[in-house]
Amino acid sequence: MKGKGLLLAGLAFLIIGIVGLALFGSGIVPLVSAANTPAERGAWIFRTGADPNGQPIPYSSGMMMRASCAGCHGVDGHGLRTPMFVSPNVTYRNLTDPAGMLELGSTRGPTYTDDQIRRAVTQGIDAEGESLTWPMPRWQLTDGEWNDLLAYLKTLP
Ligand code: HEC
Repeated sequence: MKGKGLLLAGLAFLIIGIVGLALFGSGIVPLVSAANTPAERGAWIFRTGADPNGQPIPYSSGMMMRASCAGCHGVDGHGLRTPMFVSPNVTYRNLTDPAGMLELGSTRGPTYTDDQIRRAVTQGIDAEGESLTWPMPRWQLTDGEWNDLLAYLKTLP
């Protein structure tokens, strides 16, 4: 019985794969972004974890599967509670709040500067110089990609 289940699962994945390819091929699901402004390009990076040409942005640490900021911090960037981890609100508004960023629960943390946000995203070091825990990947962003991402974080309410 177990073998049959596996076979069915395999078939299901195959069908999902074929349908997926058909969708991408037909352009219904875009693989490449049509974004023009920095914030639009940043939104693409935030939601897909890829650059606007569809190339996945490399990262170290974090989870092994492909991930995007939105996948772990929510599409609105307000943070998520999952069985695996809890992630903070990473909107620019929250991170740079003069009263200190609102952390999980309701405690206040540090106030981030732009450079410190960049360091958190690319090196996994928080505003107080502490290492962020493992789920947060260290993203190898180019200067341009970082500027786009920052522009987008600033648009999040
Ligand atoms: C696999 C899940 C995951 C992905 C993908 C991810 N993050 Fe995180 N991120 C986390 C978790 C969990 C934390 C909290 C780590 C901690 O508190 O030690 C975090 C922390 C942060 C922090 C520091 C906030 C603080 O509490 O000081 C920033 C900024 C951040 N993430 C931005 C991003 C951005 C931007 C992206 C996309 C480029 C991203 N993250 C992708 C899980 C993720």
